[in-house]
Amino acid sequence: MTIILDGKKLSNKIIENLKQETENSSKKPKLAVIIVGDNPASQIYVKNKQKQAEYIGYESLVIPLPKDATEENILEHIYILNEDTNVTAILVQLPLPEHINKQKILEAIDPVKDVDGFTSYNFGRLALNYTPYAYPCTPKGIIRLLDEYKIDLDGKKALVIGRSNIVGKPLALFLQNRNATVTMANSHTQNLKELSRNAEIIISAVGKPNFITADYIENKPVIIDVGINRTPTGLYGDVDYNNVFEKASYITPVPGGVGPMTIAMLMENTYELFKIQRSLIM
Ligand code: GUN
Repeated sequence: MTIILDGKKLSNKIIENLKQETENSSKKPKLAVIIVGDNPASQIYVKNKQKQAEYIGYESLVIPLPKDATEENILEHIYILNEDTNVTAILVQLPLPEHINKQKILEAIDPVKDVDGFTSYNFGRLALNYTPYAYPCTPKGIIRLLDEYKIDLDGKKALVIGRSNIVGKPLALFLQNRNATVTMANSHTQNLKELSRNAEIIISAVGKPNFITADYIENKPVIIDVGINRTPTGLYGDVDYNNVFEKASYITPVPGGVGPMTIAMLMENTYELFKIQRSLIM
């Protein structure tokens, strides 16, 4: 029997707990999001983040900047947010327009407000298996979901497909910190089908609809689908869910798997940064 990893249900539980904690706190965390340009998917994500933050009771600030904004424009906003003691968490929505140096922007965020865990300070601490101020949200959400279903990672063969800084790379570090044996694949990998058939845990963060077909699956692996592929015929993950389902031991649906966990972890990170900042002030 295949078990569905219900990210919606777990994320709701996390959100409700945060809402309760926030109601009990006299001061409220504040999440600031900078979005540059008019990428439609980014606009949906940012709206969802804002909605969720407000539902919990956080203060929320969205700073929309035009697609021709300069690096200096964006940096100015970040410097102001860094200095503003009312602002708990800063998120710069990715992707940024081509003319913007992503590294320059993300590195300008104060690590103690870096809610994505994308600064080299926080990412480096994850790589070293030290404790960062915040862990990247999607990988953290995936690990939390696996833990919720008591899926053991120790000594397991995990295949991570996709090496982005947002998902694949930090997730591989997380898995290694938990004693998994990690294989990293990307679009240049030659023997992906063979690697996939061998894996006990498969995480796909490729961004291609129905990329992982039934012939990639053997020996009842755990399958985590990070893909959110919007097409004219609807929303699809990376995994050909209907045909793969029976061949998996556990599988995440799209939607309702990794997506809601990412937002829940963003909200949790915001609260954790809030607590860290208060302890630093006292
Ligand atoms: N774009 C897609 N996913 C993410 C994310 O987790 N954080 C940010 N900042 N941008 C994203």
